[in-house]
Amino acid sequence: MGALQDTEATRRWFNLLAPGYDAVVPSLFWPESLQQAAIDRLELASADRVLDIGCGTGETIDHLRSEIAAVHGLDLSRPQLETAADKAHLEDARFVCGDACALPYADETFDCVVSIGSILYWSDPVEALREAHRVTKPGGELLLLGFNRRSPSWWNPVQNAQDGIAEALFFRYDREEGTTLVRSAGWTDPTHEVTGPVWGPELVLATTAQKAESGSH
Ligand SMILES: C[S@@+](CC[C@H](N)C(=O)[O-])C[C@H]1O[C@@H](n2cnc3c(N)ncnc32)[C@H](O)[C@@H]1O
Repeated sequence: MGALQDTEATRRWFNLLAPGYDAVVPSLFWPESLQQAAIDRLELASADRVLDIGCGTGETIDHLRSEIAAVHGLDLSRPQLETAADKAHLEDARFVCGDACALPYADETFDCVVSIGSILYWSDPVEALREAHRVTKPGGELLLLGFNRRSPSWWNPVQNAQDGIAEALFFRYDREEGTTLVRSAGWTDPTHEVTGPVWGPELVLATTAQKAESGSH
């Protein structure tokens, strides 16, 4: 378990980061082009209701709002949410403070759930993905971006050092582990794409999955 998979430690960390977050973190780890390419894989309709889990300062919601009317953002950190809510262009989004592992929404509320760069901090990723599944309508979609567990490189000691640090701090998974993870939370048809920022093109795993039409999974 990564050191930052502790809910209170994560909350304190993102409370502290909030004032400078937008200037540093998205461009470093979750750049606009990466987020947009992932969102483009979704089949969104303008009337869809979408939930962004771990929405932070609203970077992802900014991409989603051009495609759909109703975006809800949930995050553990109030200061992150306050930054998001203060952005004039996000005035139509609804923000809630809460934990991914206990979503404060009724069953089958959303057409789609997205979560970018948040699963790495979740204390119980399977439970959180089960919660995401519960609040999604039958036939709905999941988009999840997390850290890829890369194989050790025989020629790149810098990457191996980065991965050693990431392993100590975060929850990570490779394609196979990602498939097991989303399936065990009830999702079907997972697909994965390895992606990442310019300095780490294999740092990120972008996963999509579906909620079965019957809702029986
Ligand atoms: C790296 S930021 C990503 C923010 C945003 N998705 C983006 O792309 O800019 C991770 C966010 O996940 C939130 N987070 C971490 N653990 C969470 C949890 N258990 N429940 C809800 N939000 C969580 C953090 O507070 C933080 O805002």
